[in-house]
Amino acid sequence: MDRGLTLEFVRITEAAALNSAKWMGKGDKIKADDAAVMAMRSMFDTMDINAKVVIGEGEMDEAPMLYIGEHLGKGGGELLEIAVDPLEGTELVAKGMPGAIAVMAVAPENGLLHAPDMYMEKICVGPRAKGCIDIDASVTDNVTRVAAALGKSVEDLTVVILDRQRHERQIEELRKAGARVRLITDGDVSPAVAAALPETGIDMMIGRGGAPEGVIAAAALKALGGDMQARLWAENPDELRRVKEMGIKDIDHVLKLDDLVRTDDVVFTATGITDSELLAGVRFNSKCAVTNTLVIRGASGTVRFIEANHYYETKPKYVKMEG
Ligand code: FBP
Repeated sequence: MDRGLTLEFVRITEAAALNSAKWMGKGDKIKADDAAVMAMRSMFDTMDINAKVVIGEGEMDEAPMLYIGEHLGKGGGELLEIAVDPLEGTELVAKGMPGAIAVMAVAPENGLLHAPDMYMEKICVGPRAKGCIDIDASVTDNVTRVAAALGKSVEDLTVVILDRQRHERQIEELRKAGARVRLITDGDVSPAVAAALPETGIDMMIGRGGAPEGVIAAAALKALGGDMQARLWAENPDELRRVKEMGIKDIDHVLKLDDLVRTDDVVFTATGITDSELLAGVRFNSKCAVTNTLVIRGASGTVRFIEANHYYETKPKYVKMEG
């Protein structure tokens, strides 16, 4: 992939975050999401790329913009696959809670698993614990191995998991094993990526969440040299059919990082909307809005944190509240 596109991709998640952040705490997750989608979509229109959405806002008949199969960009260059979540953590923005990001992964054609909108079991760690996780092993075994790889005791390990009834047994087992458990109400992409960045204080993310979010997180973990194992979780015959259509004959098949993201030539970019361990959220100052973006280029392994000031006077389109 042309490395010059990296900054262009940053502009896209920045635009989504800026527009969505204006809806923080207003109790309207639909409007917060629409704002992110519209900003992202119109930024794509300005780009000289030839891209196709493989993970997006839904099927063609469900979503007016950023639907699966939609072609983006003004054309030119190799065909790229885009996995987007313009607002990851809609409730978090609506309630003004931490952890919401605008996020996107880009890879050449066939680089990403085209995961449908269903659940996926996930276990995510950073580079030092690569090769130590096993989704078929117990939670206790996994935290014991990961702690050993990180050179710390299980008591010092911080594990993030979505606070859901379906995770009751895993949470209990984590606590019994002695791990520090951080329960989140939404947004499992951010902690999955944070697990690969030691300065965040997060060591591991486990549990069942969205499959599209799983592939997006996998893009970051691949580029950062981390590790992930996953398994699709069908809730009904239709979802099972979709799994089979993807060529996965056995629903219990363990998806490794290379199955989720099939290339090293991947770019991951996320801009904070509300604060988290990974990224600060958007700040609206008197003259400008400030964004913080993490962008990782898998081909080189370069990790960039970009703080940007967006001045209201020169950039009114994305930084002024409409209406
Ligand atoms: P949104 O679609 O509202 O942004 O929610 C995202 C999310 O919290 C993901 O981060 C997570 O993977 C999934 O939803 C969890 O799904 P559920 O809320 O059904 O447990």
